Amino acid sequence: MMAPERATGSPPPQRAPLTRRLLLGGAAAGAGAAALVGADALISGRFTAPADPAGGVRLNGEETVPFHGARQAGIETPPQAHAKFVAVDLDDDADAEAARRLLGLLSDDAAKLTQGRAALADSEPELAVVPARLTVTFGFGPGLVERASPAAVPAWLRPLPEFATDRLREEWSGGDLLLQICADDPLTVAHAARMLAKDVRAFGAVRWVQDGFRRAYGSEAGGTTMRNLMGQVDGTVNPEPGTEDFDRLVWNGSDAPDWLRGGTGAVVRRIAMDLDTWDRLDRPGREDSVGRRLSDGAPLTGDDEHDEPDFAALTPLGFPRIAEYAHIRRARSEDPAERIFRRAYNYDLAATGAEDQDAGLVFVSYQADVDRQFVPIQRRLDELDLLNEWISPIGSAVFAIPPGCAEGGFIGETLFDG
Ligand code: HEM
Repeated sequence: MMAPERATGSPPPQRAPLTRRLLLGGAAAGAGAAALVGADALISGRFTAPADPAGGVRLNGEETVPFHGARQAGIETPPQAHAKFVAVDLDDDADAEAARRLLGLLSDDAAKLTQGRAALADSEPELAVVPARLTVTFGFGPGLVERASPAAVPAWLRPLPEFATDRLREEWSGGDLLLQICADDPLTVAHAARMLAKDVRAFGAVRWVQDGFRRAYGSEAGGTTMRNLMGQVDGTVNPEPGTEDFDRLVWNGSDAPDWLRGGTGAVVRRIAMDLDTWDRLDRPGREDSVGRRLSDGAPLTGDDEHDEPDFAALTPLGFPRIAEYAHIRRARSEDPAERIFRRAYNYDLAATGAEDQDAGLVFVSYQADVDRQFVPIQRRLDELDLLNEWISPIGSAVFAIPPGCAEGGFIGETLFDG
């Protein structure tokens, strides 16, 4: 669980891109095709397919992630560079049958778009041909599940309790349906979002949209933990996709309502960062607030990013080396069941004035039970976390992520047809 983000357990990409850099670098070293694929796998940590037999250069834009399967893509999938989170409010008169029809339409279009094919009534089909690992992940708010059956709403599917540090705004909170759209190309994301929003029009309206980004595809080796806009390495301690530990923590099992087995719970929090005041803090102060080094994300008691922090270590003056108020001390629970899988994105909107930067984190976590896993962590952070000086949650929403579906099926069929 201490391993970096990687591809294990995720739907495998369908193509093996060989970048020009790798081809040239490999050729210069006198390596053959097999060695080139090996180098690619080494760098990205995920590509397994052989090189294009025609000898051409395969592009990341051609890569697809399967839409159909027991679980939805976009959770275990190694995070793509770009994301758009779209929350939809269903019309008051959209009943269970309407919701079912909408999910059918959306699933059909998402299945096509993620495989690089045009949506049903695609007005710009040329934009669909670069899937770039596009995934569309559906989440259901309480309003949608209630339409199918009030008894089907899991206990944790409701707004989070209020926290003292919350500065929540309606315009970034709630929603009946979440469409999490991720790809390595922002044009692909925009097109998919537009096509799916068209499907929604007859049934409801978009409530909020949150765009997020990480480093561009190819800027860093695959598997590198992301950095947030505070400059921190963010995502180091995370359950590892494809492990039993991950399955237990994230995927719903027999204690969830039947329709949700193979699904999970998602928390989306828009957390604003006050980068202007953060800028004024010196480097030791910044590192102290989290308990990790900025240079490489190593704990203040270690040498490497993935070294286990030593929370008992003391400074020569007898103070804890990782402060009592440090984010990593407060976020960690002694109960191994009280963990979550984080898959966040950065956001950065145009500054409207020198002191008015609108930047932060679209914090997203997945966990089988939001009340049991997310809430106690957030409670501890709310009580004490030095990072709270510079961050404020301004949006919050909770969704149930249903299991995936087979070809010809639709996301939500276990709820509506179960
Ligand atoms: C803007 C807001 C936030 C920032 C900038 C932030 C930043 C960080 C950083 C830099 C780390 C250390 C590296 C890592 O393991 O990822 C970390 C760890 C962690 N954060 Fe946050 N975080 C934020 C919000 C949250 C929230 C809302 C939660 C959950 C309620 C959370 C839960 C965790 C957990 C569980 C860890 C791992 C702790 C461990 O070492 O066991 N964080 N965060």
